[in-house]
Amino acid sequence: MKLICVSNEHEMSLEASRLIGALVRITPDAILGLATGSTPLGTYGELSRMFLEENLDFSCIRTINLDEYIGLDGSHPQSYRAFMAGYLFGRINIPPANTFVPDGMAEDIEGECRKFDELMEQMGRVDLQLLGIGANGHIGFNEPADCFTSNFHCTELTEDTIEANSRFFDRREDVPTHAITMGMRGIMNARRLLILASGKKKANAVAEACFGPVTPRVPGSIIQLHPDVTVIADWEALSDTGLFEEAE
Ligand code: GLP
Repeated sequence: MKLICVSNEHEMSLEASRLIGALVRITPDAILGLATGSTPLGTYGELSRMFLEENLDFSCIRTINLDEYIGLDGSHPQSYRAFMAGYLFGRINIPPANTFVPDGMAEDIEGECRKFDELMEQMGRVDLQLLGIGANGHIGFNEPADCFTSNFHCTELTEDTIEANSRFFDRREDVPTHAITMGMRGIMNARRLLILASGKKKANAVAEACFGPVTPRVPGSIIQLHPDVTVIADWEALSDTGLFEEAE
């Protein structure tokens, strides 16, 4: 695991966008696995700037997203499809047909999950999977559980996650209770994982995911089994790891 310690969220976003931007230049037809949440916002902003000002070309890039809320239409402002359109896809030159986000309004959710597993088979390996981490250790919407789930699946969001994500909704009751998420096979099959974290509220999750036992109780801990992981985190997010005790 490569650990890049940065001073703050802005530096985290710059580092991440440099890595992703370099991949896009070297491999113009790369497959990117993308994440939502507040963590990658700065990264997406910087990639959009690189498209506008530095001719970063996304025309042959394909993307697949980790997850989507069940019950939100793609036009709902809090759907992850709308998030991606607003913060990235609508700001760069990626063809819409190259972007894949599960449909949270699919009549047959199990069928939608199967469709995404098949899609991943057909696309080939994701070159880089971007991940945030939930304060409870979740990645994508793989919530703490008794076992890891390998395929795309429907998941029930924990109270912690609903509470954390309620900041994006008018009322807590508006937060969907279920989501479609990529499973661990899809995440772990990526050639490279890039995990971003900033802020004190992620400190425990980062410490457990990077250095604790590998357990489905901390879903992000599975990254320790991946051969090519880069974690970009700020001092606050690393503050429970014990790495800087002497320096302090
Ligand atoms: C969300 C997403 C995750 C994200 C995590 C952290 O609910 N499903 O993909 O990494 O929770 O969110 P945030 O970046 O807003 O802290």
